[in-house]
Amino acid sequence: MSEPIPLPRFPPDFLWGVSTSAYQIEGALQEDGRGRSVWDTFCDEPGRIAGGDTAETACDHYRRYPEDVALMAGLGIDVYRFSIAWPRIQPLGRGAINSKGLDFYSRLVDTLLAKGISPVPTLFHWDLPQALQDAGGWFKRDTADRFAEYARVVAEHLGDRVPRWITHNETFEHTALGHALGTHAPGLQRGLNIFAVVHHLLLSHGKAVQALRATLPASAQIGIAQSMSRARPASGRIKDRLAAYLLEILHLRMHTDPLLLGRYPRALRLLGIDTSALIAGDMQTIAQPLDFLGINFYNPQYVRGGRGELPIEEAEPPAHFERTAMGWPVDASGFDALLLHVRKRYGSKLPPIVITENGAAFPDTLDAQGRVDDPRRIAYLHEHLQALRRAMDAGVDVRGYFVWSLLDNFEWAEGFRPRFGLVHVDYATQKRTPKASFDWYRRLIAASR
Ligand code: FCB
Repeated sequence: MSEPIPLPRFPPDFLWGVSTSAYQIEGALQEDGRGRSVWDTFCDEPGRIAGGDTAETACDHYRRYPEDVALMAGLGIDVYRFSIAWPRIQPLGRGAINSKGLDFYSRLVDTLLAKGISPVPTLFHWDLPQALQDAGGWFKRDTADRFAEYARVVAEHLGDRVPRWITHNETFEHTALGHALGTHAPGLQRGLNIFAVVHHLLLSHGKAVQALRATLPASAQIGIAQSMSRARPASGRIKDRLAAYLLEILHLRMHTDPLLLGRYPRALRLLGIDTSALIAGDMQTIAQPLDFLGINFYNPQYVRGGRGELPIEEAEPPAHFERTAMGWPVDASGFDALLLHVRKRYGSKLPPIVITENGAAFPDTLDAQGRVDDPRRIAYLHEHLQALRRAMDAGVDVRGYFVWSLLDNFEWAEGFRPRFGLVHVDYATQKRTPKASFDWYRRLIAASR
């Protein structure tokens, strides 16, 4: 691949990485005593996943992790963000610990360290043990205590080798898709009656941070990965602008203000949201000091006014924007705009930022020579890194960047069709083929040393 685009320059100590999550790549769902998760149940329900796909094998990473770590070493990354499957550690979500599950992550950590890659585990990337869901899941306060207990178990086993930790991935998506709209596991459609879910996720974060701090060496860095995007109104009409404002309340402010400012937005009450799950002392628990804030960014969201309980509807992005295989608009200007907005909103309360996910899906195919040329992904990453650089030049403190994702993988309800990887996966043979973007990212990392 020859492409003369100049690569943006970053500080020499900037951390470069890739992200994955357990359910999307591991497979081996029945292996070594793993318990069932809400995603197993959801995939079993006909019609939930595009094409009837299941994550039974996915990328077979549970067995092929040495090969995948070797790919990462070839890429030259500093950090690898993966998630730990709670049902592998505690098959029923409480009590009994499954040592074979811990052993898997311990081997993964050792394999990474041997290649000079620092592991960054996320404790919850949406695969709740089904037994906890049966007991009420995130609607129940007890789940927050169970999460803290699980965090402590993992920290006791990996804490001597893992310097950076992430509690949750995207509390907004897990609430909105899994509990309000029902398009993700556990498939509940509770509309605006989801305050208890948000609150218990955030409370569990705070309790887990406390458990991690009590267990890990003082040097451990702890954060959370939140999705963020500034909603853009489809037009200047009042009702479209109101929709954008409401989404800002329900997304950024509801999920991140508690962490950094120790309060929920007052507007929740205007929306008639029942906040009775909040009890005295909870906000102090949630607002634990963080070493970094993880931000996942893909695209700006376009909304317009709607009817019904919540007057927000998704709007078509302006036609001139390119779209990814997810239908998401490619518009990197939304990235630096978001980062500047976040810095303005949280000011001195904002810890250093790490971009924990950014990337794009395109319909990548192998050519006659067995190569995958993915210029649109290279252009996407390039534009987003330029936007990131602009935000850093404007004073936003960003310490690292993770591409989503290392491998093509199980994209939740969309199944295997969207390909987000720097590495192509042939699901029939499990053959991995680094795409042109892999080589591009490798050179970018090498050039910034
Ligand atoms: C994020 C998820 C991640 C992946 C990307 C495309 O919302 O955290 O698991 O699905 O989107």
